[in-house]
Amino acid sequence: MSTAHALAAGQETTHAAHDPLAPVFAQYPIEVLRGEGVWLIAPDGRRVLDLYGGHAVAALGYGHPAWSKAVSEQAHAMNFQSNAVPMDVRLRAARKLIAFSKLPVESVFFVNSGAEANENALKMAFTLNPGRTEVVAFEQSFHGRTAAAGALTWGAAKKWYGFPRTPFDVKFLPRKDASVLAQITDKTAAVVIEPVQGVGGAFDMGAEYLKALRKRCDETGAILIFDEVQCGFGRSGEPFCANLYGVLPDMITSAKALGNGFPCSALLMMKKAADAVKMDALGTTFGAGPMACAAIEATIDAIEHDGLLANVRRVSAYIRNTCMVGPIVGHQGAGFLTGLISKFPVKDLQKALLADHNILTGTSGDPNVLRLLPPFTLKEAEVDLLATALKRLG
Ligand SMILES: Cc1ncc(COP(=O)(O)O)c(C=O)c1O
Repeated sequence: MSTAHALAAGQETTHAAHDPLAPVFAQYPIEVLRGEGVWLIAPDGRRVLDLYGGHAVAALGYGHPAWSKAVSEQAHAMNFQSNAVPMDVRLRAARKLIAFSKLPVESVFFVNSGAEANENALKMAFTLNPGRTEVVAFEQSFHGRTAAAGALTWGAAKKWYGFPRTPFDVKFLPRKDASVLAQITDKTAAVVIEPVQGVGGAFDMGAEYLKALRKRCDETGAILIFDEVQCGFGRSGEPFCANLYGVLPDMITSAKALGNGFPCSALLMMKKAADAVKMDALGTTFGAGPMACAAIEATIDAIEHDGLLANVRRVSAYIRNTCMVGPIVGHQGAGFLTGLISKFPVKDLQKALLADHNILTGTSGDPNVLRLLPPFTLKEAEVDLLATALKRLG
């Protein structure tokens, strides 16, 4: 039995003294050897239902045959070439992503992580709005750990920001409050928002509010950036939340589910931003590498071939219908970024689900919200396991 599994059920552990990994992540009391669909399998054979998807990454679950084949074939054919060397797989991934989005995306810049996509989106916003020095973000937001993305992340300054100053002025607005939109002015270079906040507790901004935000950005010239790193790329049941809410931003950032676990991200630019990109303005070594592009292409193919957007819509509705039991009194979010609202703080509930029922879930910035980020392949029978466990834990 592994050390992690031998520990008391539900108890978070710290790294052992000999562990060379930087001790920055609390550890779940499970160890994973492999995965099958939506199941994690421990070295001793214990099976855990994964409703957290590795922080929203495992779109297709584990061991998807077409994805695994595409990535391993690309590894054999050509594991890496830089952006200076044209490759068909790179063009195919960009074209496929644009077609998948069903949005008027004119240009795609592939990078490596959510934070890096946001950094590049901000750089483009300042390029479009020279002289402006302020960015508007929202309370409870999360945009990443780097200097610019961390500057926009609610609470980072007090907890972990670490840099002596932010690269620009930041104004945080209360979320979903249309009465304060006048604080977006002609000094605002960009407004960055998660249409459904992830870390903030699967909190959906809604179509009406996002439309008001779009209008205010148009009035002031501020560039509207949707950070869809967690909520986008099919997780809402639509390609992006821009589709779900019928609001078109100037740029979208995408990551997490995009490569189904192969590290990659993308900055999607509508015409205004795309027209402002100049040779050498943006760059990356690893971004748009052939293996990342093969992973993106295969993930999109599988979502389309397996009808996974429809599955997300159907099964997320099933969660909302059947899991209002035990301590759960409500829900928020969209699609498979679901927040189950509990009568009690959910930390103990999360531990008990894992220890007693072998179900992995997530918490969030809201102590009463249990966050679900399952693979898009989750089925009703697996949701029934959660509903039964919640009933017993109520
Ligand atoms: C909405 C959002 N934006 C950005 C990020 C940062 O992504 P990464 O960790 O890939 O840099 C995250 C990560 O959780 C996120 O949820």
